[in-house]
Amino acid sequence: MSVASTPYAVMAKRHDSKEELDFFPTPPWATRALCNWLLANDYIYSTDICWEPACGAGHMSRTLSEYFASVYETDINYYGCGVGGIDFLEKSPSNERSLTSWIITNPPFNKAEEFALRGLEVAHKGVALLVRTSFLEGVGRYNNLFTTNPPSAVLQFSERVPMHKGRLDPKGSTATSYCWAVWRTPRLPGHTQLHWIKPCRRSLERMEDYND
Ligand SMILES: C[S@@+](CC[C@H](N)C(=O)[O-])C[C@H]1O[C@@H](n2cnc3c(N)ncnc32)[C@H](O)[C@@H]1O
Repeated sequence: MSVASTPYAVMAKRHDSKEELDFFPTPPWATRALCNWLLANDYIYSTDICWEPACGAGHMSRTLSEYFASVYETDINYYGCGVGGIDFLEKSPSNERSLTSWIITNPPFNKAEEFALRGLEVAHKGVALLVRTSFLEGVGRYNNLFTTNPPSAVLQFSERVPMHKGRLDPKGSTATSYCWAVWRTPRLPGHTQLHWIKPCRRSLERMEDYND
């Protein structure tokens, strides 16, 4: 059962201006590429519960519902999907999903490190964040995140994943490189594995992905 269409929504609690919220919908094929890899590697099972904590208009969470028994959808703002007004970085009783197996999202880029750390506190099985590949560099992130919590795997897209502010565009293009950073909880022994996601857009993209 999916809770992707939670029937109520709290209106936005405004911490940041809309500009700063970084609303870039994810093309569903990019989420399918992750989930197919997680399934193939026995990282996820259909009974797992997933929380998409920055769900925007639901482009990623609806796709996650193809793979997970339940998908919780929250966002700090409300874009017509899930529950708005929930700041994932704020620790409060209403913001703890004790049954959450996986946290999967495309976080605002300037808060991706905080999302990773918070996700690692909440998820029982793992965290997967779609990030710009440049997320992997930076002394601050190295010191605060990667030395203590290196990802179990980095899945680098061989194709570009076009993302545009506020809209999904089937004909869009981008100069930005993206990857999935995946953490298992508890942490797996060993070094971060680097994998390439082979070209898959043509096989994973569906016409209806762009219906709204
Ligand atoms: C890059 S968009 C991704 C939207 C959606 N995950 C997708 O992939 O289609 C980032 C989202 O993070 C939300 N956001 C920003 N700061 C947040 C916070 N502290 N807690 C929860 N959501 C936040 C924004 O409102 C925006 O919807």
